[in-house]
Amino acid sequence: MVNDQAAGLRAMQGAKKPSATTQAQARPEALNTASKPVRVVTVASGKGGVGKTNLSVNLAICLSQLGGRVLLMDADMSLANVDIMLGLQTRYNLSHVLDGEKTLAEVIVEGPAGIRIIPAASGVKRMSQLSALENAGIINAFSALSDDLDVLIVDTAAGIADSVVSYCRAAQEVIVVVCDEPASITDAYALIKVLSRDYKITRFRLVSNMSRSPAHSQRLYEKFARVCEQFLQVRIDFFGTVPFDNALRDAVQKQKPVTLLHPSSPSAQAFGAMAKKLQTWPLPTGVNGYLQFFVEKLFNRSKEPRSE
Ligand SMILES: Nc1ncnc2c1ncn2[C@@H]1O[C@H](COP(=O)(O)OP(=O)(O)OP(=O)(O)O)[C@@H](O)[C@H]1O
Ligand SMILES: [Mg+2]
Repeated sequence: MVNDQAAGLRAMQGAKKPSATTQAQARPEALNTASKPVRVVTVASGKGGVGKTNLSVNLAICLSQLGGRVLLMDADMSLANVDIMLGLQTRYNLSHVLDGEKTLAEVIVEGPAGIRIIPAASGVKRMSQLSALENAGIINAFSALSDDLDVLIVDTAAGIADSVVSYCRAAQEVIVVVCDEPASITDAYALIKVLSRDYKITRFRLVSNMSRSPAHSQRLYEKFARVCEQFLQVRIDFFGTVPFDNALRDAVQKQKPVTLLHPSSPSAQAFGAMAKKLQTWPLPTGVNGYLQFFVEKLFNRSKEPRSE
């Protein structure tokens, strides 16, 4: 553990000495205009076990297969997280970057189909207490990635924990996964209520998982969107539907993504269609299109609303 802040920062930046401009570079208004926008998509749900990790992993793989450069961030500390789902052994995570033990590049692991993964960190609370210098260091470490990245997908834990809220408000797109059961619907509504009321997030994309049929999902979406839009002043767009699929269960058992193990299965086809659709979403514009902005919002846990 490195206690000295300057040493910690150097480690974060790959042993480069911090320059006088470090903090200025980290501010969105001082962004390097040569870097390009990166889509940041957070996957959330109210209730647990509805399919967030499967969606995140398989979307990432399909986007990579379509030619995108994809980073998958595991923001879930529960048991069913990304490395377990993919059968990966990971030793380091973002907390090691913050402690100055590893650079961001050393923490990222290679996943299947060319995706890269940031393993789950146990130090999220500490991340909310970063000094200005540490904050600038982590933002710079991420900004160095952005030239080599098209999409960042963040898989979150279930519920409305502080960290989930942070990842949602920092992203440009929030996908909410539901399945057709009362607890899933009411918990998704509660999540959207908090994010819209307290953080002014006004648009969400809905995925209906473990669906009985496309028509069933469409009805579920229409009902859910109507209630949300009536009471919460938000817009809910339909992103897609994933059928209940035993091939997916088999893939989970074998710690392989269904899109690679059973590529012609109904769920794999659904993930592929969603990846194509995601590519047509408008690219983020303005400062919040930059990865630095995502990181800055993520580590700034104040309650001020997200800027649109
Ligand atoms: N489309 C599907 N068809 C059949 N089973 C599914 C489907 N999607 C998910 N499951 C089942 O649900 C389980 C939970 O999925 P997953 O881990 O992706 O959910 P999660 O929302 O990430 O859970 P947690 O909240 O614990 O992180 C899977 O292990 C799988 O057995
Ligand atoms: Mg999960």
